[in-house]
Amino acid sequence: MRVATPESSTCKPKSASESRLLFEIGAPGSCAAAIGESDVPPVDRIAALGAESFAAAAPGLPEIGELDLVRHYKRLAHRLFSVDENFYPLGSCTMKYNPRVNEKAAGLPGFTDLHPYQDVADAQGVLELLHRLRTDLEEISGLAEVTLQPSAGAQGEMTGLMIINAYHRSRGEIRGKVLAPDSAHGTNPATCAMCACDACTVKSRPDGRVDLDDLRAQVDEHTAALMITNPNTVGVFDEQIVDIAGILHAKGAQLYLDGANMNALLGISRPASFGVDVMHFNTHKTFSTPHGCGGPGAGPVGVAEHLRPFLPVPQVVLREDGTFDWDYERPKSIGKVRSYYGQVGVLVRAYTYIRSLGADGLLDVARKAVLSANYLAACLKDRFHMPFPPPYAHEFITVPKFENSDVTELDIAKRLIDYGFHPPTMSWPIHHCLMIEPTETESLATLDAFAETLHAIADEVDSDPEIVKTAPHTTPVKRLDEVTASRKPNVRWQPL
Ligand SMILES: Cc1ncc(COP(=O)(O)O)c(C=O)c1O
Repeated sequence: MRVATPESSTCKPKSASESRLLFEIGAPGSCAAAIGESDVPPVDRIAALGAESFAAAAPGLPEIGELDLVRHYKRLAHRLFSVDENFYPLGSCTMKYNPRVNEKAAGLPGFTDLHPYQDVADAQGVLELLHRLRTDLEEISGLAEVTLQPSAGAQGEMTGLMIINAYHRSRGEIRGKVLAPDSAHGTNPATCAMCACDACTVKSRPDGRVDLDDLRAQVDEHTAALMITNPNTVGVFDEQIVDIAGILHAKGAQLYLDGANMNALLGISRPASFGVDVMHFNTHKTFSTPHGCGGPGAGPVGVAEHLRPFLPVPQVVLREDGTFDWDYERPKSIGKVRSYYGQVGVLVRAYTYIRSLGADGLLDVARKAVLSANYLAACLKDRFHMPFPPPYAHEFITVPKFENSDVTELDIAKRLIDYGFHPPTMSWPIHHCLMIEPTETESLATLDAFAETLHAIADEVDSDPEIVKTAPHTTPVKRLDEVTASRKPNVRWQPL
């Protein structure tokens, strides 16, 4: 396998004009749009709206012809780093390939031309798809019922915790404490804050699993739930999960599974079978839909039987007469968590992925995700320190340490950009780490190229550390002061 070279990177600017802004190109009078003569009689705008409604001068908008405009945006698009072009091993984020067939299905006019307020009689097809997706997710999780309404994993967490809180309240209990292991994703404590609960940290053992003694010491009758990610963010599956569920249930607390890493479990294990009461799916991580980033994605939530009454309304249902409908008749429901019915376009993509793979294909997803992570970790272990012992699930963590060298994980991450790879997640959930998630969609050749590149960078640390410490060298913008860039971003264009 040929190792990528920095020179082969696609990030290089091709000409100086690439870095110019729209405001700096074009010429007065140029225009990309041909606007026809108006057939509306002219109106005296000052008389109609008053002089105070108008600025003294027209805004200085760019004036540019169509071809220059197209080239400008094409050049910018080529600078984007995308999973369609390059390997993107961003741990915990699961940047996997989104098959084109998903897009094709979501773009069918039967879906795109529907209005959310269309009569259900006209929308039977999409309702059937949503109902099938709901039942597929119930089958995959083993849980009693799933809502498709939340529009991101994080919003799924909030929905799940609202359901748990409503359940405790229905039993006359106010439980304000929510536990989460120290490796939890930042959205878990944020969810607690959104739901007015106190987030308490449970210690992990040196092998990355939950410290059961600490858990036992913390669970009490004020505990609403434990939010656990399993496999967790250090990449290991916690086999104590049944005991964990037992400890919580003995005190009336609920087990919430952050299902972000379900791509390692599909078809192998069902969360309900290890005691989970509530879970969310991240459709982008498990079923290859675009990532919502807390926005227009999907984070379906599944619940065990006793929590069904609290699910959001409306729920898609199959009526006895064989028609599909929205059910609003759930008096104990937490209500709506999102406008309309959820992010239907994303849900169509998730359904397409599930159906195009089938049960065997989904099992294959999990096996390949796990195999890829363990293969890559084995390729790297001689040069890269692995703080947690294998076997891994879908991802693993390395803390790069080199003898007599002050090269850091940041330097390695930046140097990977020169070789055309997206840096892994950095410095979380433990200090100085790289969190690498190859996903099930990458070929053996890509995994080998990535491993060989990391070995090549390790060689550079010995032979020419400066080149690593000053990377990236091939990008339009070099090493940034990232703290200043995020705290004091300079995003305002000033005329020259
Ligand atoms: C472990 C974990 N939990 C929760 C989330 C939040 O999901 P989302 O980005 O869909 O809101 C993520 C994000 O990828 C995650 O990795």
